[in-house]
Amino acid sequence: MPNIAPQVSVAKAEIRRLGKVFSGAAAGTPAALQDIDLSIEDNEFVTLVGASGCGKSTLLRILAGLEHHTSGEVICNGQAITGPGAERAMVFQHYSLYPWLTVMENIKFSRMLKVNREDLSSSDVEAASGRADALLNLIGLAKVAKSYPSQLSGGMQQRVAIARALMGRPQVLLMDEPFGALDAQTREVMHDLILHIHRMEKTTIVFVTHDVDEAIYLGQRVVLMEPRPGRIHSIYPVPLPERREQDMKHSAPFRELKAEILKHIRVSSGMTTDLDLLDQISQQGEAG
Ligand SMILES: Nc1ncnc2c1ncn2[C@@H]1O[C@H](COP(=O)(O)OP(=O)(O)OP(=O)(O)O)[C@@H](O)[C@H]1O
Ligand SMILES: [Mg+2]
Repeated sequence: MPNIAPQVSVAKAEIRRLGKVFSGAAAGTPAALQDIDLSIEDNEFVTLVGASGCGKSTLLRILAGLEHHTSGEVICNGQAITGPGAERAMVFQHYSLYPWLTVMENIKFSRMLKVNREDLSSSDVEAASGRADALLNLIGLAKVAKSYPSQLSGGMQQRVAIARALMGRPQVLLMDEPFGALDAQTREVMHDLILHIHRMEKTTIVFVTHDVDEAIYLGQRVVLMEPRPGRIHSIYPVPLPERREQDMKHSAPFRELKAEILKHIRVSSGMTTDLDLLDQISQQGEAG
């Protein structure tokens, strides 16, 4: 009998007993994050959802190495996260493209800085150009490679921001409400695009959103957080086929999970009616 080793799934990121208290917070202010335990598998798509102020962005920024935690541990690829790293890339809600650079130049920008700094060979430069071309095709924007950001719609600009984040082949893509400023139709297109990117690039994705539909449609697991102090309420495996289709949003498992999550968000936001909650969510969307 051949000796077949059991398949052990390896965590891409481990968050253990993580806490964050912002310096300067008034005495008695609840921790921004408290006792967060979360293990994220390689190539997993995890969504974080929860009431405003529950610490979603803070947790993502700690994973990105942009913010330091005050207790516990956060590990990526077996190494403690102490700052930003090439294996992790972040996409924010606002497109943050350089307006004076073309689409192609924006995508290649960080790579070109590296070329200048590290004196890389012409084959490295060629490889970077090939990667940028492949990403432009992946996001469906090859035709606008020479356009400037101001000539593109919001959805197109956000696609460029995603391609730019993917340029260095990050293993983990951290996304903070990346589609929060887009209209509903564009968001649907972006949802299917990011799922396609997840399949093609085999990246691990941690995605923050206010939108429960978005969290369920995209996530293999939805992490529901609650505020004061910021903590994890529940982690729901999403009971949908791996290959998502828009029609699944009307299925019973989708609607049941959505109702369950909305009920908890309503309670943790101190909202009493659906109208209060919808009002709060739409105000957050507008403010973002
Ligand atoms: N730089 C900071 N200094 C002090 N407190 C902060 C800072 N950033 C966030 N906080 C506080 O930490 C808590 C969590 O904030 P965070 O922005 O992570 O929440 P969030 O879940 O992303 O909220 P939203 O859904 O509104 O984006 C909040 O109480 C917030 O006021
Ligand atoms: Mg936030």
